[in-house]
Amino acid sequence: MSAFRFDDWDLPPLQATPSSQASMGGITPPAQPPATPGSQPANAIQRGLAPVNAADKRIVNGKADINQLAPFKYPWAWEFFLRANRNHWTPLEIGMAQDVHDYHNKLTDAERHVFENVLAYLTTSDILAMRNIGLAVMEKMSAPELQIYQARQVYEEALHTWTYQHCLESIGLDQQEIYNRYRVVPELHGKIQLANRRLEKVLRSDLDLTDRANLHEFALSYFFFAVIFEGCWFYNGFTPVFALQRRGLMKGAAEQLQYIMRDEVMHCAFGIRVIRELLKEEGLTLDPEALRPLWDEAEAAEAAYARYILREPILGYNAELHVQQFRFIANRRARQVGVAEPFPGAENVLPWLDEQANLRKEKNFFETRVTEYQTGGALAWE
Ligand SMILES: [Fe+2]
Ligand SMILES: [Fe+2]
Repeated sequence: MSAFRFDDWDLPPLQATPSSQASMGGITPPAQPPATPGSQPANAIQRGLAPVNAADKRIVNGKADINQLAPFKYPWAWEFFLRANRNHWTPLEIGMAQDVHDYHNKLTDAERHVFENVLAYLTTSDILAMRNIGLAVMEKMSAPELQIYQARQVYEEALHTWTYQHCLESIGLDQQEIYNRYRVVPELHGKIQLANRRLEKVLRSDLDLTDRANLHEFALSYFFFAVIFEGCWFYNGFTPVFALQRRGLMKGAAEQLQYIMRDEVMHCAFGIRVIRELLKEEGLTLDPEALRPLWDEAEAAEAAYARYILREPILGYNAELHVQQFRFIANRRARQVGVAEPFPGAENVLPWLDEQANLRKEKNFFETRVTEYQTGGALAWE
């Protein structure tokens, strides 16, 4: 049996077989007229279809051909994709040798508890994030420039999972025990369970988004994902390890998390842009009475999580700071979407967090490996 060649377009079309049909989800392709040598191969030309009009594209429920990239209706989405590709990295590029020594010889029991549980939560969260974007959100987007950035996002979430795995392997932690921790520790389970409940409603591929109630549910679910799960929980979730980094501990792992945080900030910024466009296109308003429990549940789950991972405070960081910072970041995200601040008056109790997230400043201070943004000040932290 000869191998398929990607460069030979003169081969006759493959005959449909039960196995090839199965690979298309059981859908039998419509019968095609036999090709005549020298004829135009594309049915579109035979039927005289006009090129895609950008104005016909929509965030969801679009009717324009999903396989035509340009003309762009959302050129910013394409820019996100280009920028994400300029930010490429892998966990193998960052030295972890000092972390092995720090973990086994320098960290206190309380600090080891923080470090392990942050990793345990993040590993589970990033797989959940990958599945939500890849299986629930991406298929509902009806413009290719949106899907292409989300394809990159799916990859980045997988890369983040690789990063945690690399940290666990490097330091020599029990992978199975760490990965299973969210199933035995209620405070870790609480955040994952809440995320699953908020996201699974839109996981169905047959969700009819022309129905206004479904559309609102989808917008709310995506809001939870991009704004709270990625924009608050992830953004704030690295902070305990950054608190160690500020004292010269676990610098390799912290640098890994800085790379992940940079990606997550882009994911959040993209998601917020999509939500704003979706609301505008659809003339939709997020119901404040639906948003309030979203914020309150997220805060309660985050507070329980913080009290568990920081049951003993560590030098320079404690549970109360973690929760206060969550509220401050939540207000920032709400402003970015254009909805009311959920926690008026919340203060920025960790002014160093945004700077910590900025790799350019860190590399000089801690003399870590040079990992500049190629795009200079491309990322805004507000
Ligand atoms: Fe991620
Ligand atoms: Fe993400």
